[in-house]
Amino acid sequence: MPLTRVPLGARDGRERWTVQQDGRSYLVLDLGDRVVVTDALCPHKQNPLADGLLRDGSLVCPGHWYAFDLTTGACRNASETPLPLHPVVETDGVLVAEVVVEPHRSWSERLRAHAHAHEAHKKTYDEGGR
Ligand code: FES
Repeated sequence: MPLTRVPLGARDGRERWTVQQDGRSYLVLDLGDRVVVTDALCPHKQNPLADGLLRDGSLVCPGHWYAFDLTTGACRNASETPLPLHPVVETDGVLVAEVVVEPHRSWSERLRAHAHAHEAHKKTYDEGGR
Protein backbone atom coordinates (compact mmCIF):
# COMPACT_ATOMS: atom_id res chain seq x y z
CA MET A 1 0.00 0.00 0.00
CA PRO A 2 1.32 3.45 -0.81
CA LEU A 3 2.26 5.80 2.01
CA THR A 4 1.84 9.52 2.23
CA ARG A 5 3.58 11.81 4.68
CA VAL A 6 1.40 14.24 6.61
CA PRO A 7 3.16 17.21 8.28
CA LEU A 8 1.73 17.68 11.77
CA GLY A 9 2.97 21.17 12.54
CA ALA A 10 4.70 22.27 15.72
CA ARG A 11 3.56 21.15 19.15
CA ASP A 12 3.48 24.74 20.50
CA GLY A 13 2.33 23.42 23.87
CA ARG A 14 -0.83 21.94 22.42
CA GLU A 15 -2.13 18.60 23.70
CA ARG A 16 -4.40 17.91 20.73
CA TRP A 17 -5.02 19.41 17.33
CA THR A 18 -6.21 18.43 13.87
CA VAL A 19 -4.54 18.64 10.50
CA GLN A 20 -5.95 18.16 7.02
CA GLN A 21 -4.38 16.79 3.90
CA ASP A 22 -5.88 15.56 0.64
CA GLY A 23 -9.43 15.87 1.96
CA ARG A 24 -8.73 13.76 5.02
CA SER A 25 -8.53 14.99 8.62
CA TYR A 26 -6.26 13.67 11.33
CA LEU A 27 -6.28 14.05 15.08
CA VAL A 28 -2.92 14.58 16.76
CA LEU A 29 -2.60 13.80 20.49
CA ASP A 30 0.53 14.77 22.39
CA LEU A 31 0.49 12.35 25.31
CA GLY A 32 3.72 13.70 26.78
CA ASP A 33 5.84 10.61 26.21
CA ARG A 34 4.67 10.13 22.64
CA VAL A 35 2.55 11.62 19.89
CA VAL A 36 -0.39 9.61 18.54
CA VAL A 37 -2.04 10.33 15.20
CA THR A 38 -5.32 8.88 14.07
CA ASP A 39 -8.14 9.76 11.75
CA ALA A 40 -10.18 12.67 13.11
CA LEU A 41 -13.48 10.85 12.63
CA CYS A 42 -14.57 7.85 14.66
CA PRO A 43 -14.56 4.56 12.74
CA HIS A 44 -17.94 3.71 14.28
CA LYS A 45 -20.29 6.45 13.01
CA GLN A 46 -17.89 9.22 11.99
CA ASN A 47 -18.32 11.52 15.00
CA PRO A 48 -15.39 13.91 15.54
CA LEU A 49 -12.84 12.47 17.95
CA ALA A 50 -11.24 15.82 18.78
CA ASP A 51 -13.60 16.23 21.75
CA GLY A 52 -13.05 12.67 22.99
CA LEU A 53 -11.98 11.91 26.53
CA LEU A 54 -8.56 10.51 27.34
CA ARG A 55 -8.92 7.81 29.96
CA ASP A 56 -6.74 4.88 31.01
CA GLY A 57 -4.69 4.93 27.81
CA SER A 58 -7.78 5.13 25.63
CA LEU A 59 -9.58 7.76 23.63
CA VAL A 60 -13.32 7.66 24.33
CA CYS A 61 -15.49 8.89 21.47
CA PRO A 62 -18.18 11.38 22.51
CA GLY A 63 -20.60 9.83 20.01
CA HIS A 64 -21.42 6.48 21.61
CA TRP A 65 -18.62 6.16 24.18
CA TYR A 66 -16.58 3.55 22.36
CA ALA A 67 -13.07 3.42 23.88
CA PHE A 68 -10.06 3.00 21.60
CA ASP A 69 -6.73 1.83 22.97
CA LEU A 70 -4.12 4.43 21.95
CA THR A 71 -1.33 1.85 21.77
CA THR A 72 -3.00 -0.74 19.56
CA GLY A 73 -6.03 1.08 18.14
CA ALA A 74 -8.28 -1.75 19.34
CA CYS A 75 -11.82 -0.81 20.20
CA ARG A 76 -12.80 -2.09 23.63
CA ASN A 77 -16.49 -2.15 22.70
CA ALA A 78 -16.56 -3.50 19.16
CA SER A 79 -13.54 -5.37 17.82
CA GLU A 80 -14.57 -4.81 14.20
CA THR A 81 -14.08 -1.03 14.48
CA PRO A 82 -10.42 -0.46 15.33
CA LEU A 83 -9.04 3.04 15.30
CA PRO A 84 -6.31 3.48 12.70
CA LEU A 85 -3.09 4.71 14.29
CA HIS A 86 -0.56 6.29 11.97
CA PRO A 87 3.15 6.03 12.80
CA VAL A 88 4.83 9.32 13.67
CA VAL A 89 8.41 10.20 12.89
CA GLU A 90 10.19 13.26 14.26
CA THR A 91 13.11 14.71 12.39
CA ASP A 92 14.84 17.81 13.75
CA GLY A 93 11.77 18.66 15.81
CA VAL A 94 9.41 18.31 12.87
CA LEU A 95 6.59 15.79 13.30
CA VAL A 96 5.30 13.83 10.33
CA ALA A 97 2.73 11.03 10.23
CA GLU A 98 3.11 8.17 7.78
CA VAL A 99 -0.34 7.35 6.50
CA VAL A 100 -1.34 4.41 4.35
CA VAL A 101 -3.38 5.59 1.40
CA GLU A 102 -6.37 3.32 0.96
CA PRO A 103 -7.21 2.34 -2.59
CA HIS A 104 -10.42 3.78 -3.95
CA ARG A 105 -13.42 1.53 -3.21
CA SER A 106 -16.73 1.65 -4.99
CA TRP A 107 -19.94 2.03 -2.99
CA SER A 108 -20.77 -1.65 -3.51
CA GLU A 109 -17.34 -2.62 -2.13
CA ARG A 110 -17.89 -0.33 0.86
CA LEU A 111 -21.35 -1.78 1.52
CA ARG A 112 -20.04 -5.34 1.33
CA ALA A 113 -17.27 -4.48 3.80
CA HIS A 114 -19.83 -2.86 6.11
CA ALA A 115 -22.10 -5.93 5.91
CA HIS A 116 -19.11 -8.19 6.61
CA ALA A 117 -18.18 -6.12 9.69
CA HIS A 118 -21.80 -6.26 10.88
CA GLU A 119 -21.84 -10.06 10.56
CA ALA A 120 -18.54 -10.30 12.46
CA HIS A 121 -19.97 -8.12 15.25
CA LYS A 122 -23.18 -10.20 15.37
CA LYS A 123 -21.16 -13.41 15.57
CA THR A 124 -19.08 -11.99 18.44
CA TYR A 125 -22.26 -10.88 20.22
CA ASP A 126 -23.94 -14.28 19.69
CA GLU A 127 -20.90 -15.99 21.17
CA GLY A 128 -21.19 -13.92 24.34
CA GLY A 129 -18.85 -11.07 23.48
CA ARG A 130 -19.72 -7.40 23.47
S1 FES B 1 -19.42 7.53 16.55
FE1 FES B 1 -17.81 7.13 17.89
S2 FES B 1 -18.58 5.58 19.16
FE2 FES B 1 -20.15 5.89 17.73
